[in-house]
Amino acid sequence: MTLETLKPKVEDIIKLSSASVDERLMNICKLLEEHISHYNWVGFYFKNGNKNELKLGPYVGEPTDHTIIPFGKGICGQVAVSNENFVVPDVAAQDNYIACSITVKAEIVIPIFKNGKNIGQIDIDSNTPDPFTEDDERFLEFVCEKVSRMIS
Ligand code: SME
Repeated sequence: MTLETLKPKVEDIIKLSSASVDERLMNICKLLEEHISHYNWVGFYFKNGNKNELKLGPYVGEPTDHTIIPFGKGICGQVAVSNENFVVPDVAAQDNYIACSITVKAEIVIPIFKNGKNIGQIDIDSNTPDPFTEDDERFLEFVCEKVSRMIS
């Protein structure tokens, strides 16, 4: 399935107000992991209250020990501070990287903004080296924008 054809499916999930926010986030993770072959771990991290750390939200893929990530640490923690997309073609080339699984070769993290504030992010790990293109960035920005609107 192409990224374009997945967009309306993301919107359908977001619109389903009978489901909780976490259920809908989980369904987005499942949709992306199932239909995009280079997405092997898909999850959301959100700012943990007033603390300068991220807390793991819904995700699909191997369980991770990194349920709390301090701002500045790893790819995720850096995005919490930079407010910018972070595309990592080769995780082995990164100094500030938190390994979750030895099978992971690449990672992409896109921030989620609410009223101009960076409130969290979508994090995707790939077992394929250098798989992410600008199409992934634009698609994931679309997902993050929809998620932002769903969150009050
Ligand atoms: N690799 C991430 C940690 C989160 S896991 O990929 C699930 C990082 O360096 O921040």
